[in-house]
Amino acid sequence: MLQTLDGIDIRPLNPTIGAELHGIDLAQPLTTAQVAAVREALHRYKVVFFRDQDITPEQQLDFARRFGAIDVNPIFGHVPGHPEVMLLVKEEGDKFNIGEIWHSDMSFAPVPPMGSILYARQVPPAGGDTLWCDMNRAYETLSEGLKATLLGLNAVHNNRGQLERAAARAGDVSTTVQASAFAKVREAVHPVVRVHEGSGLPCLFVSETFTWCFEGWTREESLPLLRFLWDHAIKVENQVRFRWQAGSVAFWDNRSTMHYAANDYHGWRREMHRVTVKGTPPA
Ligand code: SIN
Repeated sequence: MLQTLDGIDIRPLNPTIGAELHGIDLAQPLTTAQVAAVREALHRYKVVFFRDQDITPEQQLDFARRFGAIDVNPIFGHVPGHPEVMLLVKEEGDKFNIGEIWHSDMSFAPVPPMGSILYARQVPPAGGDTLWCDMNRAYETLSEGLKATLLGLNAVHNNRGQLERAAARAGDVSTTVQASAFAKVREAVHPVVRVHEGSGLPCLFVSETFTWCFEGWTREESLPLLRFLWDHAIKVENQVRFRWQAGSVAFWDNRSTMHYAANDYHGWRREMHRVTVKGTPPA
């Protein structure tokens, strides 16, 4: 299945999630038609990929700004001289990576980011793939009874687990954590099912990394249902898995996906640059 939209070839990797977009150079300013085509593909496929790109931090930011204002990550360190570009690096000797539990970026924020743009600078010869899952399909494949129950629920999201892991792993992870990140646990309440602003489709919005409990429920009461939803969401049929090359770029929609960074490449260096685009309050 190959479609063309404003000179961009769209090569889907899966019927509902993931498509490679060819015929676009992210180092050049995009035309209005190209921005519209990328946005349409993002809404349709939830994560889109570009190959063989060669971009500076400024060019990555310029591309991101075509889709919204930049959301600066308050937790992790950045590329020197570019506070808006998060530096994700796993050195040869590191035991852990960042993003190894399924999540939607920064959902502990009152207004979580719409999208994230990840640029591969250096990748291992094998391993280090990233996986995404389709949170609209996850919702649609639930029973009508559970869908109706979830529509009435909100969930508390926080970064308590993220900070605990960062403190416990210090010395085994090269991606830096800002000292100010530890000053407070960040927390927000969001609907368990959000309506995607672009497609109008309902999407499950809970993750193992950040969802703590249902609003008004204890953590113990919440965990059995949350665990069911997390396992359901990441079923293989809901996933796309991307094999990176240096120069690959992934642009994902945090409203309709979760993602997971595989930590299976010990002894090899991997360096990624991430820019995050602001969203609107989930509703
Ligand atoms: C992340 O943004 O969670 C990390 C993704 C990756 O490094 O593949």
